[in-house]
Amino acid sequence: MNIETADTRELSALLAWYVAMGADEAADLEPVDRFVIPEPVAKPQKGQQQERSRPTPIQARPAKPAIGAGIEAAEKAAAACTNVEELEAALKAFDGGMLKRSSKNTVFADGKLGADLMIIGEAPGTYEDRDGKPFIGPNGDMLEKMLTAIGLKRDEHVYLSDVLPWRPLGNAKPDDATIAMCLPFLKKHIELAKPKYLLLMGVVSAQAVLGTKDGISRLRGKWKDIEIGGQTFAAMATYHPSYLMAQPQMKGATWRDLLAVKERLES
Ligand code: URA
Repeated sequence: MNIETADTRELSALLAWYVAMGADEAADLEPVDRFVIPEPVAKPQKGQQQERSRPTPIQARPAKPAIGAGIEAAEKAAAACTNVEELEAALKAFDGGMLKRSSKNTVFADGKLGADLMIIGEAPGTYEDRDGKPFIGPNGDMLEKMLTAIGLKRDEHVYLSDVLPWRPLGNAKPDDATIAMCLPFLKKHIELAKPKYLLLMGVVSAQAVLGTKDGISRLRGKWKDIEIGGQTFAAMATYHPSYLMAQPQMKGATWRDLLAVKERLES
């Protein structure tokens, strides 16, 4: 595409592609073309003195840990919370390391606090990071269709959160250390929100909450009781909306999982 002659539709498609690839921030006011080959520096003539280039001084910056405050600090901060508002404030004040610093927002929750069903996803993506709410954008649209299929409304019947409250750079799959640091907050969130049932969307959520390394095809479609803070929660794992968009043939199995959730909610 020629940027000079592209029309608005083409330019907005290009912009959407950049955002989807994770390039959603301008680092400077002017774009830098890094493919331009620099002009060769003229060699000094015989007898001419070569100009010495001076080293550029490096600005000292205080070192900030990439990892963040760590699991123990997360456990302590989460344990001190007695309600969901305090937990959200604690999470926003927590040093989540590089993950948090590279995000625009702390994505805590959406939907109806106090609903019987709590949906737990993996991590915010580009759209969720931008607006500070879980499951919006294409994943949110897909989830909404899934909920509608079993007669549920996002704002009335479900409470939503993610394992990670911050968007991983480039929407990468979160590593175990990061998940372990975020888990005390999620567990406390479940304990304080007190849903009757948990719907775990995708492998990261299922493995983190159920404490296993089993794959999603093994975990999905079965109710499992989990203990958190002295309470028992019935949890069901199913495929993530983004996986269903890529693998629509898995919608049948997901539909069966959703029917099982509906049955429990109506019992
Ligand atoms: N995927 C998730 O798992 N959660 C979100 O909030 C968005 C995308």
